[in-house]
Amino acid sequence: TLVDKGNFRHFMAKEIHEQPEVLGHTLSRYLDLTQSKTVLPKGAEFDFASCERLVISACGTAYYAGLIGKYWFETIARLPVDIDIASEFRYREVPVKAGDLALFVSQSGETADTLASLRYCKAQGMKIGAVVNVPESTIAREADFVFPTIAGREIGVASTKAFVCQLAVLASLAVHAGRVRGTISDEREAELVRMLAEIPAYAVKALRHEVEVEQLAQPLSKSQHVLYLGRGTSFPLAMEGALKLKEISYIHAEGYAAGELKHGPIALIDETMPVVIVAPYDGVFEKTVSNMQEVAARGGRIILITDQRGAEESGLQAWKTIVLPDVPAFIAPIVHAIPVQLLAYHTAVFMGTDVDQPRNLAKSVTVE
Ligand code: G6P
Repeated sequence: TLVDKGNFRHFMAKEIHEQPEVLGHTLSRYLDLTQSKTVLPKGAEFDFASCERLVISACGTAYYAGLIGKYWFETIARLPVDIDIASEFRYREVPVKAGDLALFVSQSGETADTLASLRYCKAQGMKIGAVVNVPESTIAREADFVFPTIAGREIGVASTKAFVCQLAVLASLAVHAGRVRGTISDEREAELVRMLAEIPAYAVKALRHEVEVEQLAQPLSKSQHVLYLGRGTSFPLAMEGALKLKEISYIHAEGYAAGELKHGPIALIDETMPVVIVAPYDGVFEKTVSNMQEVAARGGRIILITDQRGAEESGLQAWKTIVLPDVPAFIAPIVHAIPVQLLAYHTAVFMGTDVDQPRNLAKSVTVE
C-alpha cells in the first residue's frame, strides 16, 4: 500500500504525530478494559509463570525499548532479564535455559543480527517471542509467540512510532507477567491497566509541546556535542534521544546514566555543552536533580524534560525546561519519548539534513 506524508513535511513528523493513534491500536490488543486486565494476543499465550528468566535481544532503537522493558519486567513481575544488543548476543555463546523465553524486539522483523540471535536461542531450546511490527516478517514467522505492535508502516529511517508501540507492548507484557507470577494483585493490575489505557491521551498532551521544543532547535544546532542524562527508565530513553539526534542531525550525542556522570562525562561539561536531562517525577527524581546541580555548577546548559511536579520540586532554574503534564512514573518513558523525538526532529530540520533518509543509514539492516 502507498503511504504518503499527508500535510507533513517529513514521514518522521507524520509518524511522530500518529503516535496517540497507533498506541491506541497497539494497546487495544493487550488490554481488556471491561475487565481491567491485560490479555495476550491470540496464539501468543506464553505462560510467564513457567519461566525463570527472560532474554531480550535487539538492535538500535528496538534495543532501547527492550532495555526499558527490563526495568518493567524486573520491578513488576520480578522476572530477571538478560538483555544485549543482538550483534554481541549472537556470538557471546550465552548460556540459556531451555523453556525460558527469549524476546526479540524489531520493527522490520528482518534485522540480520536479531534474527541470528533468535536462531541461536531456538537451537538452545528456548521459547521464542517476537515484539514485531511487520507480521509477515522472518522474525515473526520464526517466533513461537508473536506480540505485534500495531504502528503501521514506518518509513522514516529513525524509528519513532514503532518504538513507543514496542514500549506499550513490553509494559503490558510485564503487567501480565506480574499477575500470572503472583507478584502483583488483581487490584494492582487493574491500576496499571488504567495507566496504560491513558497513554494515548498523554501522548496527545505531549505533542502540544512541539512549538516549545522547536525553539530549542536553533541553539542546539550550534553545538558540536550534546549529552543526554537519565536514571531508571529514563536512562535508556536518554540513550535513545542521543541516538535520534546523532542519526538525523549528525551532531555527536551521547546518552549516559545520570549516576555515571562523575565517572567520566562531567569532564566535558562547560558553557558550550548542552545537557538534555530526562527526569519525570519518579522514584529516582531527587537523585537526578543532584546530578543536574553538578552540571549547573559547571556552567552546563541544561535542557530539562520533566513534568509539573518535577518542575516544582527541582528547585533549579534550567536553561530551558519542557514541562509535560504529570504522568504516572510507570508510563512516563512512553510519554517523555515524544519531546525527545521532537527535539531531534526539529534540530535536524533546522539544520537541513535529509531527515527521512539520513546519510549512511538504512531502515532495515538485513546484512551483517
Ligand atoms: C536500523 C534502523 C533503526 C532500527 C534498527 C533496528 O538501524 O535505522 O531505526 O531501530 O535498525 O531495526 P529493527 O527493524 O530490527 O527494529
